[in-house]
Amino acid sequence: MHNLNIRCARADDIERIMDLEDGGFHQRIQEDKSVMLERMYHFPAGFLVLANDSDMATGYLCSELWDNDGTLHEAAFALGHDIKDTHRADGSQLYISSMTVAREYRGSGLGKKFFQQSVHMLRTQLTHVRGSILLLSAEWTGAHKIYQDSGYTEIARLKDFFASIATHDADAIIMQTQFGEER
Ligand SMILES: CC(C)(COP(=O)(O)OP(=O)(O)OC[C@H]1O[C@@H](n2cnc3c(N)ncnc32)[C@H](O)[C@@H]1OP(=O)(O)O)[C@@H](O)C(=O)NCCC(=O)NCCS
Repeated sequence: MHNLNIRCARADDIERIMDLEDGGFHQRIQEDKSVMLERMYHFPAGFLVLANDSDMATGYLCSELWDNDGTLHEAAFALGHDIKDTHRADGSQLYISSMTVAREYRGSGLGKKFFQQSVHMLRTQLTHVRGSILLLSAEWTGAHKIYQDSGYTEIARLKDFFASIATHDADAIIMQTQFGEER
């Protein structure tokens, strides 16, 4: 697969990342700039951007590492949560907290490639990571397809988690995958 230009986010990407956030998510669930900056500072390796030929971010993916204690804490998924409360440098589960691609780049396979290559980069660098977890709205069919095609399966639903933005299904779906030995 053709390698995309994926690099760690820098502080000077922040305005562009906030534009991407605006184009990707309903206003009621957009993260604040301070939350994004904290993610970038606290776990720089886990905050990736898809750069175009001019090195401008055309997509972002951010993540955290969680303890693999087998328990799902709903609060950890909450909008605006502080990464310092949830991220553990030695955590074995890669939690993808958010991902989006700019509107003008959607619909031609880039979102899936960006997601899969980002996860591959992270699991290659973070050799103690054993699996990955994420949460999405039941209404985000594009994202659901990408995660399913990338080996994630549904493990739980949080009823009415997206009540503030839903049009027909307010549930959140939690999906998980376990990584094999090959990296
Ligand atoms: C999700 C997102 C990154 C997908 O980006 P994209 O570049 O359009 O995705 P792709 O073109 O790689 O599509 C991947 C697959 O999903 C399918 N798909 C994409 N959007 C879809 C939609 N709205 N409904 C149904 N299927 C869809 C594609 O047909 C493709 O399937 P295929 O691989 O079998 O051909 C992009 O739509 C986005 O940023 N959305 C807003 C933010 C978001 O939902 N993020 C996920 C949060 S968890």
